[in-house]
Amino acid sequence: MLRLEGVSHSYDDRAVLRDITLDLAEHRIGVIGANGSGKSTLARTLNGLVIPDEGRVTLGEWDTRRHAKHIRRRVGFVFSDAANQIIMPTVAEDVEIGLRSLRLGREETSRRVEAALARYGLDGHRDHPGHLLSGGQKQLLALASVLVTEPDVLVCDEPTTLLDLRNTRMVHRTLSGLDQQLVLFTHDLDLLDDFDRVLVMDEGRVVFDGVPGDAVPHYTKLMDDR
Ligand SMILES: Nc1ncnc2c1ncn2[C@@H]1O[C@H](COP(=O)(O)OP(=O)(O)O)[C@@H](O)[C@H]1O
Ligand SMILES: [Mg+2]
Repeated sequence: MLRLEGVSHSYDDRAVLRDITLDLAEHRIGVIGANGSGKSTLARTLNGLVIPDEGRVTLGEWDTRRHAKHIRRRVGFVFSDAANQIIMPTVAEDVEIGLRSLRLGREETSRRVEAALARYGLDGHRDHPGHLLSGGQKQLLALASVLVTEPDVLVCDEPTTLLDLRNTRMVHRTLSGLDQQLVLFTHDLDLLDDFDRVLVMDEGRVVFDGVPGDAVPHYTKLMDDR
């Protein structure tokens, strides 16, 4: 289980995360909050992309400060802008690249790549350049490239922010069908209806932690009062 203990972080002199302590045990956890409230910084602490100035983030015995490499294998990360994660000449190679460090051998690698392409509806595009895909398909490719490595936890930082409604739905359906634990940072409050837990962030703190039916009104009221 991911656990944050007394996590604080600043950029220059600006506090962005303030003393956050959380156990992230539920299957589907949403995180909402205004722009600049610290969501992306928090997301990045979960797999060691950001090491907090104070406190610690652990996954079982591992600490992101000392075992970031191990943790990154267990905690997959998807960014808002999928284009940044598309680096190879073809869709299939993009899915494969994440597997290389696992050294699974040619057969198992190819079996996993084909299964991931089929599962995320990309098998018709295996030899196309990823940048020619639609926005939603790019996001599915980013997801496939991470999920093919079979992480225990998937952290998504606003995966639908740049997408239109149709593509948002496509990504949403895919996220809903995942077995992995999901920590979804989002502005799409509609996506959170069936989540187990939703955290509301404000100015670097978790100001609400509860079920979606209570978290979303808490957040909208917070914004109305500004
Ligand atoms: N690498 C960085 N260097 C300096 N300031 C940053 C950096 N990343 C984020 N910030 C600042 O930290 C604050 C929180 O940012 P962020 O975690 O991205 O929040 P959110 O995702 O909720 O919009 C913002 O004011 C942002 O400008
Ligand atoms: Mg952000």
